[in-house]
Amino acid sequence: MTVAPPPRSWLFVPADSEKKIAKALASEADALIFDLEDSVVSDRKAAAREILKNLPARSGGPRWWVRINPLGSGELKADLKLLASADMCGIVLPKAESGADVIQLAHRTGNVPIHAIVTETAASLFGLLSYRDAKSPLAAMSWGAEDLSAALGASGKYGSDGELAFTYKLARSLTLAAAVAAGVQPVDGVFADFRDPEGLEREARAGASEGFTGKLAIHPGQVAAINAAFTPSEFELAHARAVVAAFEADPAAGVLSIAGRMVDRPHLIQAQGVIARAR
Ligand code: COA
Ligand code: MG
Repeated sequence: MTVAPPPRSWLFVPADSEKKIAKALASEADALIFDLEDSVVSDRKAAAREILKNLPARSGGPRWWVRINPLGSGELKADLKLLASADMCGIVLPKAESGADVIQLAHRTGNVPIHAIVTETAASLFGLLSYRDAKSPLAAMSWGAEDLSAALGASGKYGSDGELAFTYKLARSLTLAAAVAAGVQPVDGVFADFRDPEGLEREARAGASEGFTGKLAIHPGQVAAINAAFTPSEFELAHARAVVAAFEADPAAGVLSIAGRMVDRPHLIQAQGVIARAR
């Protein structure tokens, strides 16, 4: 059995906009996140659900996810009812604070995969190891800076050097480690400045080299750069295959040399990861 590689690009689309939905469906995103939360005002949430219910059937194309409103919000019941009528492959849970939130949602949704956004409240930063639960339907974890900065009373998320401020770097790194610890996909957060392609490319490549395997997008124009950054290059693949082949050829070896470089167990694990992400 071959397992599908995880989505590289996860494109948000406000679910009350038929025009944006049409554009998103035509994009090359690996996953679409139809948003019922922050990008849709209260008055439009019912209309947004109707739009999602009436989406035409499809075959192939991006995987469909729906971002519901937070647990405890008055919208949750209606959001979850939608799952019975729309063809969604998973739920994006915003403002998650711990693994208990995922379990609480799963009590109502069964085995439907959950992608939790795990750094949007102040308290959430202290619960990141709690997502580790073999029985949970958690499939991915991502981090959010916008809600976190609002929650913390910050005026921005960047320092004077233009880099993410320490608090957001911390949230980002903890999310990466927490997702890996939980055995789910680590997904990097949004790059909000959708008119800065160089900045996006830099950030996406940095995320991929650190271990994220996908990234949230907010604009169709961001999809191609994200897909490229999270697709192993021919060069990386060839090297990874060489590492795996070398260990297969010499099963008793703990350490080998390839092209004058030491390779041992961590390199084998990296190589297997690269091969799993190949397209
Ligand atoms: N999905 C699908 N289509 C989108 C889109 C998205 N996320 N973002 C923009 N588009 C469409 C626009 O409607 C526009 O269509 P048109 O050419 O038919 O007019 C086209 O792409 C170009 O958009 P552009 O003019 O560059 O941007 P904009 O000013 O219309 O929209 C945002 C900017 C930020 C409002 C928009 O990108 C957006 O809604 N993003 C998603 C926001 C979201 O879901 N946030 C929640 C998670 S953080
Ligand atoms: Mg938000």
